[in-house]
Parts: sequence; structure tokens; C-alpha cells
Amino acid sequence: MVTILVTGSKGQLGSELLNLSRGYSGYEFIFTDLAELDITSRDEVARYIDDRKPSWVVNCAGYTGVDAAENDPSAAYAVNANGPANLAAALRNTNCRLVHISTDYVFDGLSNKPYLETDKPSPQTVYGKSKSEGETAALTHPATIILRTSWLYGVYGKNFVRTILGMLDRGIEPRVVFDQVGSPTWARGLAESIMAIISGVIRNKTPFVPGIYNYTDEGVCSWFDLAAETAATALRTVSVHAVRTESISQIAPRPPYSVLDKQKIKDTYGLNIRHWRENLVVCIKILTDAT
Ligand SMILES: NC(=O)c1ccc[n+]([C@@H]2O[C@H](COP(=O)([O-])OP(=O)(O)OC[C@H]3O[C@@H](n4cnc5c(N)ncnc54)[C@H](OP(=O)(O)O)[C@@H]3O)[C@@H](O)[C@H]2O)c1
Repeated sequence: MVTILVTGSKGQLGSELLNLSRGYSGYEFIFTDLAELDITSRDEVARYIDDRKPSWVVNCAGYTGVDAAENDPSAAYAVNANGPANLAAALRNTNCRLVHISTDYVFDGLSNKPYLETDKPSPQTVYGKSKSEGETAALTHPATIILRTSWLYGVYGKNFVRTILGMLDRGIEPRVVFDQVGSPTWARGLAESIMAIISGVIRNKTPFVPGIYNYTDEGVCSWFDLAAETAATALRTVSVHAVRTESISQIAPRPPYSVLDKQKIKDTYGLNIRHWRENLVVCIKILTDAT
């Protein structure tokens, strides 16, 4: 039996994997969050891995507060850098494969063409630096895939699309930056792709090729575009205003351009990635049907 251990399973991505796991009856899943497995504890991680002997670990745990991290770097580094280091150390002498999730924030966002996996990281924030250190740590385990993603949103947890919908419902007109450009990623689509990679390898459909991979939805937009599209899709008539970055106050700087080139993951694992607009429509339908 293939055993898949998921950490941080109460977050946006982990919750989607939990939902998806119901369709994978041939695998044993172990879903953990902070209460069951604190990835910042090296001893706890070592004991847990030794006890449960998973064949795959999907690390969805993260300290994801980009602004909060600036004021509490040690908390961010503990989860985002030491966490993957602890997992890699526990897995080093095993055949278990690690799927670790990282971010576009490892780049400075000053490029004008999509980032490749081989581009040199240059993180500008505590969050980005801690995640970049986490990538290096995760890669000390040779059987590791790192998926760098961006602008994650979905039906669970706190995210941009849900925040915008909440504002529109309360009649608040969002002011959203139009000069930061990237690609949204629906957490459900990413979860499906993670399971497609794992099951493709298990069924010998695709070889396991460790390394760093970019993964986002197809297409490119600004945060304003995403907010405006959210309002239009949800049939909300409240106005969304386009503003420049300098007119809003945020503690951590944001990358102005964070588009990631996805050719490597498509070529290696044969993924069929949907356009962000297509995913947004489905996600908003789920969110609005639920209310
Ligand atoms: N959100 C984005 O826009 C975005 C963009 C790019 C990349 N990513 C990356 O994608 C991954 C998943 O993101 P997400 O949005 O699903 O994150 P999320 O919703 O914040 O979920 C992270 C989960 O990890 C848990 N956690 C925190 N510290 C932990 C620890 N020490 N041990 C075990 N679990 C712990 C959190 O619990 P608490 O809630 O109790 O802290 C939460 O349940 C992260 O690695 C993140 O860096 C996210």
C-alpha cells in the first residue's frame, strides 16, 4: 500500500488534497496539521516518519503571512526553512519522495519575462528568504520535487478571492493594484496536479524526476484584473478601483512581475493546466452556491 503523508493539511492546499483523497481509494493518506505533526520539531518529525514510514510526503505546511513574517522572522524561518530541513533529514536514508511547496517570492519580481526554474533566486522579503532557504533544505533529500506556485486561492482559508467577495458583499469598493502582474493558482487545480504527478509515477506512466518546477494556472493578469474578474463572475455590481502600488500600504514589498514559466512541469509530468479564468469561474460558483 502506498502511504501519502500530508503536512499542514488544514490549510488551503492541504484541505483540497483531503477532499481529493476520497477519490484515491488505493492509497493510504495520513493528514496532519500542527496538532498532529509540528514540522518545526526535528525529533517529532523524525519519530513520525520512522513510525509511519510514508512513501510520499507532501509538505503543505507553511508560515504564509507575508507581512507578519517581517515582524516575526524567527516564526517564519522555523516553519518555512527549518520545517523542510527537518523533513529532508528524516527522509534522507529512506526511499520516500518529498513534494515541497514553494513560491514566486523567491524572486525579486524585477524581470520582464517569465521566470525559469534555473533563474537565480533573489528574495526581497523575510517570507521569500525563509522559503528560499526551505527549498535548499528540501533539496538535501535527493528524492524531492519542489513546486513553486503563486497567488494561491480557493474555497478554504483566507485568500484574495474570498477577501474581495467578502468586501463586495458588504458593499465596500475594493482598491486593487494594477501594476503587480502574475498568475493566480486555484488550490484545487494544484492539488489535482500533485495527485496526477504522484499517481503517474506510481503507475509508471511518468518517471520520477526530482528538482524544482514552476506551477501556476495558465495566463497572466494583475491583481486588479483578478478582483474585477471575481466581481464580474460573481455578478456583483460594486465597483473595483485600479490603483498603483505606492497608494496602498503594505509592510513587505511585493514582486511587480512574478510570472513563472511552466514548460518544464508540462514536459516532464504531462500536466494539462487550466487557464486562471476557467478555474476562477468554477471556484466562484462553489463559493457563491455555498452562501
Ligand atoms: N497562499 C499563497 O498565496 C501561496 C503562494 C505561493 C506559495 N504558497 C505556498 O503554498 C503552501 C501552502 O499554502 P497555503 O496557502 O495552503 O497555506 P495555509 O493556508 O496558510 O496553510 C498552511 C497550513 O500549515 C499549518 N502550519 C503552520 N505551521 C505549522 C507547523 N509548524 N507544522 C505543521 N503545520 C503547520 C497552518 O496552520 P495554522 O493555520 O494554524 O498556522 C496551516 O494549516 C505553503 O508552503 C506556501 O508557502 C502559498
